[in-house]
Amino acid sequence: MTMGLIAQKPVLLVIYLAVVGALTTSAKQAEVQTIGPIFIFGDSTMDVGTNNHIKNCTARADHPYYGIDYLGSQATGRFSNGLNTADTIVQLLGGYDTSPQPYLALVEDGSNFTREILNGVNFASGGAGLARSIGQSFYGQVVSMEEQVQQFETVRGNITALLGESKGSGLLQNSMYIFSIGSNDLMTYIFTRPMTPEQFVVNLTDTYAFHLKNLYGMGARKFGIISIPPIGCCPIARSLSPGGACTDETNNLARACHDSFESLLKNMSSTLEGFKYSLANTYNMTMNIITKPVGFKNVTSACCADMTPQGLSECKKGVHLCNNRDDYLFWDAFHPTQKASKLAATALAFSQDPDFISPINFSSLRKA
Ligand SMILES: *[C@@H]1O[C@H](CO)[C@@H](O)[C@H](O)[C@H]1NC(C)=O
Ligand SMILES: *[C@@H]1O[C@H](CO)[C@@H](O)[C@H](O)[C@H]1NC(C)=O
Ligand SMILES: *[C@@H]1O[C@H](CO)[C@@H](O)[C@H](O)[C@H]1NC(C)=O
Ligand SMILES: *[C@@H]1O[C@H](CO)[C@@H](O)[C@H](O)[C@H]1NC(C)=O
Ligand SMILES: *[C@@H]1O[C@H](CO)[C@@H](O)[C@H](O)[C@H]1NC(C)=O
Ligand SMILES: *[C@@H]1O[C@H](CO)[C@@H](O)[C@H](O)[C@H]1NC(C)=O
Ligand SMILES: *[C@@H]1O[C@H](CO)[C@@H](O)[C@H](O)[C@H]1NC(C)=O
Ligand SMILES: *[C@@H]1O[C@H](CO)[C@@H](O)[C@H](O)[C@H]1NC(C)=O
Repeated sequence: MTMGLIAQKPVLLVIYLAVVGALTTSAKQAEVQTIGPIFIFGDSTMDVGTNNHIKNCTARADHPYYGIDYLGSQATGRFSNGLNTADTIVQLLGGYDTSPQPYLALVEDGSNFTREILNGVNFASGGAGLARSIGQSFYGQVVSMEEQVQQFETVRGNITALLGESKGSGLLQNSMYIFSIGSNDLMTYIFTRPMTPEQFVVNLTDTYAFHLKNLYGMGARKFGIISIPPIGCCPIARSLSPGGACTDETNNLARACHDSFESLLKNMSSTLEGFKYSLANTYNMTMNIITKPVGFKNVTSACCADMTPQGLSECKKGVHLCNNRDDYLFWDAFHPTQKASKLAATALAFSQDPDFISPINFSSLRKA
C-alpha cells in the first residue's frame, strides 16, 4: 500500500514552507503559492477516525473487519476495508499519503496540533448530515456540519495566530475545502417524510448554502463538492427491496439534489467574488459502474455483512466476508470498497467528462 505513513510529514512540510515562502517573496511563484492544504468535511464516506473520539457515538468502524486491507490491518475508524475516499482524493491531488488527521484526534492529544493543522484537517463524522439533527437519533452523538464548520473556525483562528492574519488568510484562501455529505439527510427524509420531496430538496440545498456561505465568510474560496450517490442501490437498500432492486424513489431524490446543488454553486460563483468550485457527480460515476461493471465482479452485495430477516447486518467479526475485496463495489451495507473509492477519486481528480465532474476537475480547482 503506497509509500507508508512516515513519508507523509516531510512532503507536506515542504509544501507548507513553499507556500509561506512564496507569500513572503513578492510574487511569481504562482504554481507553488496556489497549492495550500486540504480541509475535509462530511460523513462516513470521509471520516478517518473522528467518531472514535466520541464516547456516545455508535457509528463506528474501529473494529474488524474494517481496515482489513489497511496498513497493519488496523481498524482506524474508516468505513472501508482500507483507505477511504478522503485518502484516495488527497493522494491523487498530491502531497499526501493519507487524509489529514481528524480534528478530534489532534485536539485529544495536543502535542501535534500546531504542526498538523498546517497540513489540513479532516472534520468528517460518520452519520452526520447537513442538518443539525441528522444522526443523533440513530447513532447518539455525531459531529454535525454546523459543528464541523465551528471546528474549522477554531482552526482558522489557530492558523492566523501562528502565521499572522495576512499569511494565515493567504494560506486559507489557497486551501481546498472538500465536502461529501447529504446521504444521511436523504435517508432520514425517506424514513420520516416530514415534507414533500420538492420541499426537501430546497430545504437541503438552502442548508448547504448556509454552511458554504459561512465558510466563504471565513475566507474559503475553493470548494470541491461531492454530491449524493445512488444510495437506493446500496446493499442495505437492495436488501429491503423486493427482488433486490434499487429503490428508484431514493435514487431520483439523489439526482434531484445533485441538480439543485449545481444551480446553487453556479449562483454562488456568479454572486460571490472569488468563489470557485468543482462538483462531482457521484450519482453518475456509481451508476456507470453498476450498469457497466468493468473491473468488478459484484456490484450489488456487500463484501462484509450477513443477510438477516431485518435486512443486512453491520460489518463485524464473524459475519460473512468475501474473499476478494477488489471484486466488490461495496464493502459493507452502505460504503464502497477501497478499490471503488480509488476509482471515484481518479474520476473527480482528473476526469474532463462533464457527466462526472464540472465545471473543472479537483486537480484544476486545487491549482486555480
Ligand atoms: C450520552 O448518552 C446518554 C444516554 O443516551 C445521555 O444521557 C447523555 O446525555 C449522552 N451524552 C452526551 C454528551 O451526549
Ligand atoms: C505526533 O507526532 C509524532 C511524530 O511525528 C508521532 O510519533 C506521534 O505518534 C504523533 N502523535 C499523535 C497523537 O498522532
Ligand atoms: C486554538 O484556538 C482555540 C480557540 O481560540 C484555543 O482555545 C486553543 O487553545 C488554540 N489551540 C492552540 C494549540 O493554540
Ligand atoms: C428545513 O426544514 C426544517 C424542518 O421543517 C426546518 O427546521 C429548517 O429551518 C429548514 N431549513 C432551511 C434552511 O430552510
Ligand atoms: C442566487 O442567489 C441569490 C441570493 O442567495 C438569490 O436571491 C437569487 O434568486 C439566486 N439566483 C438564482 C438564479 O438562483
Ligand atoms: C449524468 O448526469 C447528467 C445530469 O444529471 C445526466 O443528464 C446524464 O444523463 C448522466 N449521464 C450518465 C452517463 O449517467
Ligand atoms: C455477490 O456476493 C454475494 C455475497 O457475497 C453473493 O451472495 C452473490 O451471489 C454475489 N453476486 C454475484 C452476481 O456474484
Ligand atoms: C483536469 O481538467 C483540465 C481542464 O479540463 C485538464 O486540462 C486536465 O487534463 C484534467 N486533469 C488534470 C490532472 O488536471
